[in-house]
Amino acid sequence: MLEIREGVFWAGAIDWNLRVFHGYSTPAGTTYNAYLLRDELPTLVDTVKRDGFGEMLGRIREVIDPREIRYIISNHTEMDHSGAIGRLLECCPEAEVVCSSKGAEELRRHHKRDWRFRVVGSGDTLDIGARRLRFLPIPMVHWPESMVTYSEHDRTLFPNDAFGQHFASHERFADEVPAGIVDAQAAKYYGNIVLPYGSQVVKALEAVGGLDVDMIAPSHGLIWRRPEDIARITGLYARWARHDTDPRVVIVYDTMWHSTEAMARRLYEGLARENVPAVLMNLQATHISDVVTEILRSRMVLFGTPILNSRMLPTMAALLMYLKGLKPKKRLSWTFGSYGWSPIGFKEVEASLKEAGFEPAGEGKYVPFVPDEAELEGLAETVAMLKAKLLA
Ligand code: FEO
Repeated sequence: MLEIREGVFWAGAIDWNLRVFHGYSTPAGTTYNAYLLRDELPTLVDTVKRDGFGEMLGRIREVIDPREIRYIISNHTEMDHSGAIGRLLECCPEAEVVCSSKGAEELRRHHKRDWRFRVVGSGDTLDIGARRLRFLPIPMVHWPESMVTYSEHDRTLFPNDAFGQHFASHERFADEVPAGIVDAQAAKYYGNIVLPYGSQVVKALEAVGGLDVDMIAPSHGLIWRRPEDIARITGLYARWARHDTDPRVVIVYDTMWHSTEAMARRLYEGLARENVPAVLMNLQATHISDVVTEILRSRMVLFGTPILNSRMLPTMAALLMYLKGLKPKKRLSWTFGSYGWSPIGFKEVEASLKEAGFEPAGEGKYVPFVPDEAELEGLAETVAMLKAKLLA
């Protein structure tokens, strides 16, 4: 059993095979992190997904008899963290479930059980022996009932989903894995899970900013323990929450007979010639959650689709529907594509982008059937316009 600091044990489960997490592709799997605090009143911070119960219980048993557990803290009720509570409570009948008032409501709705709840609010504390635990709400990071648990004794923050990554590994600490890998996973996690809640993230960072923290132990992925890593991930969260971006362009498209693709490629070549960093993403080859990860750091997105039955292609519709929920801010968009007999379907693309919060960089370019060379060459003017808008 891994003791992440004296008396604090990682008791989570590794989900090596998870490939989709509510619509987000997870090629690296994930972990569900639970933490056992060995103290006079042994306490478990969060549990795991239902399927990981046996793995978690085995890890707890390496340290204590599970019957000794007195508190199970539920920072967040989503089932990847609360799915195993019911079975665990059968092993520790004396335990109380510590959560926010909304958390208690949601746990009742999920599990159809009325356990012994201890409801805590902002700043409330719980003494478990040498440790005094403090609770701070972080609503909408990721659900309304979400809260963090802070152990001053351990100078450790347990923020549940915040600062997490969907990343299954033997390693438990961020400094044991190349920073580029961890940061990429943290970015994908933020872009696909936390992005709509930037203003709440700012408040959450303020709430925990005054705490003396030298370890951040999230509920997914790797634990942040080096000062430079903690500074880096909290700095990234602050940047992402402000919707700060780099002057980069994402060109995302689908294509039927390669007309829209020819436009996408010409746009990419033009931007590359202008030394504008850009990435070309075909929706037939790229999952929408990977597109969102690129959008997280990019100021401008070019959306290309052909028209089918007076509508955009379903792959583009799925991306735009996803973006309407994620609501990226402070980003420019531009639209392009080919059509057969009517460009009417592009109105829907433009309307969807407006609803998702994008600001149009200019009028879109739509060509009937197949673009000719003059039309493709004409995209050079578009590139100049887009570059000017990008750098304005
Ligand atoms: Fe990891 Fe919102 O659950």
